[in-house]
Amino acid sequence: MTSQAANQNRARIPPAKSEGKRLVDDHPVKVQHDQVPGAPESLTTFYRDFDESGRLTHGHGLVEFRRTQALLRRHLPPPPARVLDVGGGPGVHATWLADDGYDVLLLDPVEQHVARATALAAGRFTARTGDARSLDRAPGTVDAVLLLGPLYHLPDPADRATALREAVRSARPGGLVAVAAISRVGGGAVDAVRRDLLAEPAVRSAVHDVLNTGWTRLAPAFYFHTPDELGAELLAADLLDVRVHGLEGPAWALVPDHAGSSDPIVTTVADLADLADADPMTVGASSHLLAIGHTSSSGSVQLQAQ
Ligand SMILES: C[S@@+](CC[C@H](N)C(=O)[O-])C[C@H]1O[C@@H](n2cnc3c(N)ncnc32)[C@H](O)[C@@H]1O
Repeated sequence: MTSQAANQNRARIPPAKSEGKRLVDDHPVKVQHDQVPGAPESLTTFYRDFDESGRLTHGHGLVEFRRTQALLRRHLPPPPARVLDVGGGPGVHATWLADDGYDVLLLDPVEQHVARATALAAGRFTARTGDARSLDRAPGTVDAVLLLGPLYHLPDPADRATALREAVRSARPGGLVAVAAISRVGGGAVDAVRRDLLAEPAVRSAVHDVLNTGWTRLAPAFYFHTPDELGAELLAADLLDVRVHGLEGPAWALVPDHAGSSDPIVTTVADLADLADADPMTVGASSHLLAIGHTSSSGSVQLQAQ
């Protein structure tokens, strides 16, 4: 197995560390948000052992990359426009956006990601440390805000609402907000089957919790959405024209971890994802979701007056 494939093979819901130890109750956990570890510490721990730079370069990560790129190119205002890439990680999307002519500022709380993004940018875009819940931006100063990561690392709904409000506040009237999430069915349950982990009692119990609550103690730094829940969170943040897309489509689990960009299976599965997007029933089968909405064209002052 290549190191890339080993990286991709890391389970989002990991196998239990000690055999026989009961890590999760049989019944769905009620998320105790005051017990959820602080995001920066749990994030740093997770990303210390995980090569985020390589995640989208092979296997189903390539399908996620291509579909994200295609959907953003379809919906973003034309370049040059100001794009705030919040949770931009090591800069994979910021790089092609800058090459397309966008004026990109990447923010991420993990310092190693900011350092890698800065190196990758080579002057094409700027990367700084920052948190989605407190954007250091004047209101209405960007054309588009991307949240391709923060929402699935914020298990507390109040934190997700704050992050979405900050995105809406930062975007100009009529601006675009694009939000990625991990699907409960695709990214939680199907992923456990794909990795042949569902027979492990702790994983089975964690999948049960993810399907019922969106959260599991086995993967405390993650939150998993249903498509309806994600759409409702954007609408509650006053975003308009909200549509939730399935990113990798219903066949993503058939892509081998070692598949490269010239493997036909990657193109075929991405093509099916595009076709299946017309059917709302298949959206949750994708590993990742991408919700896109717009701020009111009359601006937040008008919204408050309603
Ligand atoms: C899986 S990576 C995705 C990186 C990139 N946006 C992409 O789509 O490939 C998730 C990113 O979200 C970042 N993140 C998590 N919580 C965040 C928060 N509260 N504010 C901003 N970024 C956050 C993580 O540090 C990480 O870089």
